[in-house]
Amino acid sequence: MGLKHPSAAPGPTRDLSVPPIFTLEGDSIPRHELPAGELPPDVAFQIVHDELMLDGNARLNLATFVSTWMEPQAKALMAECLDKNMIDKDEYPQTAELELRCVNILGHLWHAPDAAEATGCSTTGSSEAAMLGGLALKRRWQKRNPAGGTPNLVMGVNVQVCWEKFANYWDVEMRLVPMDGDRFHLGAEEAVALCDENTIGVVAILGSTFDGSYEPVKEICEALDDLQATTGLDIPVHVDGASGAFVAPFVDSELVWDFALPRVASINASGHKYGLVFPGVGWIVWRDSEALPADLIFWVNYLGDNMPTFALNFSRPGAQVVAQYYNFLRLGFDGYRKVHGYSREVATRLSAQIADLGPFELITKGDELPVFAFKLKDGIDNFTVFDVSNAMRERGWQLPAYTFPKNREDLAALRVVVRLGFGHDLADLLIADLNRQLPRLKAQAAPVHDASTASAFHH
Ligand SMILES: Cc1ncc(COP(=O)(O)O)c(C=O)c1O
Repeated sequence: MGLKHPSAAPGPTRDLSVPPIFTLEGDSIPRHELPAGELPPDVAFQIVHDELMLDGNARLNLATFVSTWMEPQAKALMAECLDKNMIDKDEYPQTAELELRCVNILGHLWHAPDAAEATGCSTTGSSEAAMLGGLALKRRWQKRNPAGGTPNLVMGVNVQVCWEKFANYWDVEMRLVPMDGDRFHLGAEEAVALCDENTIGVVAILGSTFDGSYEPVKEICEALDDLQATTGLDIPVHVDGASGAFVAPFVDSELVWDFALPRVASINASGHKYGLVFPGVGWIVWRDSEALPADLIFWVNYLGDNMPTFALNFSRPGAQVVAQYYNFLRLGFDGYRKVHGYSREVATRLSAQIADLGPFELITKGDELPVFAFKLKDGIDNFTVFDVSNAMRERGWQLPAYTFPKNREDLAALRVVVRLGFGHDLADLLIADLNRQLPRLKAQAAPVHDASTASAFHH
């Protein structure tokens, strides 16, 4: 079964047609079956290339957190490494060495007690990293509590779908703290109230996908310290820093959220988000080797040497890991600080301009992650955020509109993710286009699009 986008229009079913210029007229190329024969490479290229023209323009996609721009030198290195398999650490020892350096760099950045010997690895993204972090928490709980009941994991309802996958795939109960009024993410008191002897951990998100806000990691840890003092329950924290673990160290150096808090057992981050690498790389670092039970690690001897592996995949491209190291070397601390500082400047200026347009009210300002959400002011009932999103599509912008989860399903918002490649100039063009569309929307008699008619949006 192909997993199809639910709102995907039924595609054409007839065979592909080759334009006459290729002198192959009459050839029938099946669309959904393997063609019987070969095609010249130029023809195959042109057919695929032409079809891909209908994909969106990644730089105008304000929905994605994933990097859509890299330097030509990074692209050249990635092209050099396209054939390298990350798992073949014996065949590609230098790629393996660069991965190790990246783990140590992140260990330092996130204040791991022994960063020179940091325990961690690269992954395909934060989702895989979250699965590994969750598995380590589960195994540790099983060792603490061999006769335990159903394990549970406490988190805010705003968690990204990867945590729902983790709970579903590994039989862990999700204990979700709902949103409440203007609290759009996990609160310390609410998290602790859901913990018991079967809690394998609490997930705190540094940079909520819904609105870019940081969850109060320090307060959550302190509340769990109090819980331990009164009940003896010692519950570790995993920080889902998919975006924020690559932002906060550079532009929020005073924020305490990482291994500086003894309760933080593990941290994941997406190299392909604010780590500034093209899609395909994530990271997980544990506070120390104790936090990652050794019996989760496999040792394989069929790659030339005895190699440890803790991963859901086996083979995986090495190019993204090399590109991550390139970025670390190229930008250093100061470069990342400048890039993310600029994104935050763009986000906060743009959110203020949007607030000044009249119909919108900010939910967040973009002063934590350079990401902000906004809604229509109360009383506007002739158009919706889904109408705004659709209107902006006419100019190529993908400005996602979506409803919030439990208990704020009433709240529908738009969100902008500012990242490298989206500067003040593009932000000015976005404002100009909003200004161009608003008179028409304000004049319309009734809403046209709502959550059910909006094109599906996934966080
Ligand atoms: C907070 C959070 N966690 C996890 C993920 C999943 O990350 P990835 O796409 O790297 O698997 C995301 C993606 O947006 C996210 O925002």
